[in-house]
Amino acid sequence: MSDLLTVRDLRLSTPDKVLVQDLSFSIAAGERFGLIGESGSGKSLTSLAVTGLLAPGLRAEGSVELAGTQVIGAPERRLVGLRGNAVATVFQEPLTALDPLMPLGRQIAGPVRRRLKREGAETSGAAVRAEVMALLEQVRMPDPARLIGAYPHEVSGGQRQRVAIAMALACRPRLLIADEPTTALDVTTQAEIVRLITSLVDELGIALLFISHDLAVVGQVAERVMVMRHGRAVESGPALQVLTQPQDDYTRNLVAAARRFDAALEGQG
Ligand SMILES: Nc1ncnc2c1ncn2[C@@H]1O[C@H](COP(=O)(O)OP(=O)(O)OP(=O)(O)O)[C@@H](O)[C@H]1O
Ligand SMILES: [Mg+2]
Repeated sequence: MSDLLTVRDLRLSTPDKVLVQDLSFSIAAGERFGLIGESGSGKSLTSLAVTGLLAPGLRAEGSVELAGTQVIGAPERRLVGLRGNAVATVFQEPLTALDPLMPLGRQIAGPVRRRLKREGAETSGAAVRAEVMALLEQVRMPDPARLIGAYPHEVSGGQRQRVAIAMALACRPRLLIADEPTTALDVTTQAEIVRLITSLVDELGIALLFISHDLAVVGQVAERVMVMRHGRAVESGPALQVLTQPQDDYTRNLVAAARRFDAALEGQG
């Protein structure tokens, strides 16, 4: 089986600094892959390179092949098509994905209508509305009928993230990227959203690139992980193996720190 995403020798730089280098990994169709690393290690830049959304001042070299398309150097027109149907991203802060002045139902309807058009399906108001309601049920949204008329500031952070996930799924992507999707949420909501994302990608057969600095969360979500530091991969392999028998000193320290944190929490409880 060929991989859905293959990154080879990725290097990202500004004119005076190399931010990511020697990075190679691949994700198979339907696979859940985790990217771990401290703040500034290059996780988000890597995900932006995958979707071709790097800031203009950044130079990308190497190869990023997504669903058979070479992303590096591809014209914007090609990338727009890819973002519409091969890949969708859920970001840390759901408000970045949402228009504050538009009711949530209409925001989800946008990508739904584009996908129905692409598939040659009916795009009447009723057909789009039925799809929007189905998506809201899929993301287990409480009271979807109220939600479609609500504005982003009228719902909770967890509900906003469910809407952002619904918008990402509306495109029927083959790869879902979730970049710290729960960091802005409280602990209980975090656990719900993580469970929602894993069960949805499994139900729908979508591959997942899950980015987090939280080892415990990545361990729950991913089948394989890669640990990054200072823009390079320091270790990769099956999640269980990397997180229980880390080979690299940096990963070992991360795992030890996470254990101390857990022990401290238990001591409190
Ligand atoms: N447009 C840019 N121009 C110059 N440097 C950048 C740019 N974007 C990011 N960087 C730098 O690249 C490095 C990696 O950034 P990145 O956002 O990928 O980190 P990250 O691993 O996602 O961190 P976090 O966990 O805090 O989200 C950082 O040092 C950052 O300051
Ligand atoms: Mg980041």
